[in-house]
Amino acid sequence: MKIGICTGGGDCPGLNAVIRAVTRHAILNHKMDVYGIQDSLNGLLCDPPAVQKLSLPDVAGIIDKGGTILGTSNKGSPFKDPQKGAEAKAKAFKNWQALGLDCLIVVGGDGTQRMALQLHDAGMPIIGIPKTIDNDYLATDISIGFMTAVDVAAESISRLHSTAEAHSRVMVAEVMGRDAGFIALHAGIAAAANVILIPEIPFDFDAIVRAMDDRRKRGRNFSVIVVAEGAREQGKDPMFRKSSTGSLHLGGIAGEVASKIHQKTGIDTRVTVLGHIQRGGSPVTIDRILATAFGVHAVDLAAQKKYGRVVGYRGGQIGDIGYDEFDNGTRAISLTDPYLRAAESIGICLGR
Ligand code: F6P
Repeated sequence: MKIGICTGGGDCPGLNAVIRAVTRHAILNHKMDVYGIQDSLNGLLCDPPAVQKLSLPDVAGIIDKGGTILGTSNKGSPFKDPQKGAEAKAKAFKNWQALGLDCLIVVGGDGTQRMALQLHDAGMPIIGIPKTIDNDYLATDISIGFMTAVDVAAESISRLHSTAEAHSRVMVAEVMGRDAGFIALHAGIAAAANVILIPEIPFDFDAIVRAMDDRRKRGRNFSVIVVAEGAREQGKDPMFRKSSTGSLHLGGIAGEVASKIHQKTGIDTRVTVLGHIQRGGSPVTIDRILATAFGVHAVDLAAQKKYGRVVGYRGGQIGDIGYDEFDNGTRAISLTDPYLRAAESIGICLGR
């Protein structure tokens, strides 16, 4: 068999670990040829296709490397426009046939998996592997990259306590996650944040001020607040910033929270936006292990010709689910999530 692999969407730690696992298992145990498609699905849209055959030496020493040796893209779907999209799909299909690939393993979040599903529906056998630091892809309880982002964010936020205490300030740290608060909630708990604000619970400034007051009464004249980039005040919309190319990105809420808290309490505040630090660098061990297990499972699916399925970790097991068996989109933190309860039970204010 000949299989292809590509990485799509925003990069995250663990992508190289999954490329390595797929390549090694496919070559060592299934005698497959493995082809790396460059820059997400874009590698199939150019003439000639941007593809490289992967050998064992190509994937040696990369389990701990950030980024992706195959490149990636998160510039939106080439299949969006009905006319151009149909042409792009036809081109991808033609190139895929010319390369003689039996299937394509697509490593990506919800956006990339939606594009992959369109190719699958057009006749190209696809197997999906979920990755996203946001941890918001529905097919899995945990995605490659999430644990590293949490670790990096928690380590950084922990460092804010001592400087907050030294200056009697409120430090507001903004973390990524799009419309889901998984990074904020998990990193906030791990870093002993005093307040965690997530998109799933629109916040009330009065509740935050009450939390600051309670702390002051106990002699704690400083606080650390973690706010997800997609969080919003009750009755307001999330905040967006323009990138260099003019596209809109969630962000800016930490500045808003910091200035409102200063206005309402007079406490000196500072803002830290963690940004792409959460996505860069070496994956933590759990991401390397998850990426390896996901990669191996995907190759086993390919060997059994079980296409149109997404690998995932659900209910404590590595398994797979058909694209047709779930809504191929995102999830958010459920209001009955045990980690929310744990946070509030130990006195963390969730802005309500
Ligand atoms: O989806 C991953 C993510 O890092 C989000 O948390 C964030 O909002 C977005 O990507 C940033 O995208 P970009 O890399 O285009 O700035």
